[in-house]
Amino acid sequence: MDLSQAKDIFQRLYQDLSGYETAQREKERLGRGDQSTTYGEILPESFVELMAAASPTEGDVFIDLGSGTGKATFMAALSFPLSKSMGVELLPGLGDLARERLAVYDSEFRPHLPEQHQRQRIEFIDGDLTEQDLSGVDIVFAHATCFPPELIAQLGKKLEELKPGARVIVAGNTLNTPALKFLAMKIMRADWGTALTAIYQRT
Ligand SMILES: C[S@@+](CC[C@H](N)C(=O)[O-])C[C@H]1O[C@@H](n2cnc3c(N)ncnc32)[C@H](O)[C@@H]1O
Repeated sequence: MDLSQAKDIFQRLYQDLSGYETAQREKERLGRGDQSTTYGEILPESFVELMAAASPTEGDVFIDLGSGTGKATFMAALSFPLSKSMGVELLPGLGDLARERLAVYDSEFRPHLPEQHQRQRIEFIDGDLTEQDLSGVDIVFAHATCFPPELIAQLGKKLEELKPGARVIVAGNTLNTPALKFLAMKIMRADWGTALTAIYQRT
């Protein structure tokens, strides 16, 4: 689907939704004052540019590690011929918002889209990104600006599970593992500012 159509659906899906308040409430409820759950969201055009740099191909599986209200998961699904687009999120209240958006997408938008979008799977999982099985994933995104060094180290190790050729997009941080070949550095515009974003390929 072209960018203007994808953006139109994205904006209609998210028009009255803010993840910031829910993230704050969930952090208080769960006693998670740590830096890793600092919230922030992608902007659609800039995210699509990053995805394009990771060369998605038909049937690819995408995952957003730390998916918030699901904006990157939806924008990836709308813009590229993925077979599956997933998000995993630690704060369940944000996962609930993403699943509510999915229910709206399934009832109001998906039925009017081409066949490829009817078949495409979209899923939001509650959980810790360090426990997610990544062996079947082709493209990983992490908006990791506020991920602390320990989480970045765990993420680097986790990405060794990827199959050779899989691509990784990491915004706001860099990874240091021999399992990943550096491909490019880009700038991601987000709703809070800009982040240097590294793109890698699993060797
Ligand atoms: C900067 S936000 C990005 C939200 C979304 N990916 C976007 O770009 O619009 C980072 C998200 O990662 C989540 N997060 C932090 N640590 C996590 C972990 N260990 N497992 C899963 N999610 C995590 C946070 O709760 C937060 O929602």
